[in-house]
Amino acid sequence: MKWEIKQFNEVSSTNTLARDMNVGTIVMAETQTAGRGRYGRVWQSPKGNLYASFVFPNSENLKKYLSFVTGLALAESLPEFDVRLKWPNDVLLDGKKLAGILLEATENKIIVGIGVNLVSSPNKNMLYPTINLGGKLSPIALVKRLMIQYEAVLKVLDTKGFNKIKQRWLDLAENLGETISVHLPNQEIEGVFKGINDQGALILKTTNGVLNVMAGDVFLI
Ligand code: BTN
Repeated sequence: MKWEIKQFNEVSSTNTLARDMNVGTIVMAETQTAGRGRYGRVWQSPKGNLYASFVFPNSENLKKYLSFVTGLALAESLPEFDVRLKWPNDVLLDGKKLAGILLEATENKIIVGIGVNLVSSPNKNMLYPTINLGGKLSPIALVKRLMIQYEAVLKVLDTKGFNKIKQRWLDLAENLGETISVHLPNQEIEGVFKGINDQGALILKTTNGVLNVMAGDVFLI
């Protein structure tokens, strides 16, 4: 895919702007006044960190797999750091949250919003402890790496299928084989994280049997 980068100083949310942009646009901003996370949470957006939204076409395949593709592309963009992935789409360093990914779809587009703590790690009202890269990488340098890694990972999806992506994602998974607690909107389930199924759901072995969880927040316990 050929990308065009559009840079702004201050926006409400790069994901909101991206809705009105063409497929192939990357919206970047220095700061966001209404940055959002999953489940409508606030994503604090001080200057210096990365706030970017990539506009992809909407297709069945991308809708299912883009969150894994993005996690992998982001991890592979940071080879000098020992990052790990946590289902569904957090990127961790030292067990703490380094980056968040927010996918939003319109009829024709999938907007992938990526926030990476490059210089500071806001932790007010955050669900998980946070960490940053200590200013070792600039937002534009990271976006350029991401463009390259997206290309590479999407090629793997195209030629080898989701199984290969899944394998590589699981190689980087933080908590495979461990007991985790999954928080759903109105219940909490504890179980052993066994893997990911072909739909991208988390496979959880509980005392009541094996469950496939499509969405939720995962806590290590
Ligand atoms: C999460 O972990 O809850 C996802 C956080 C996603 C934050 C990014 S920052 C760029 C883009 N614009 C937003 O408003 N959110 C995403």
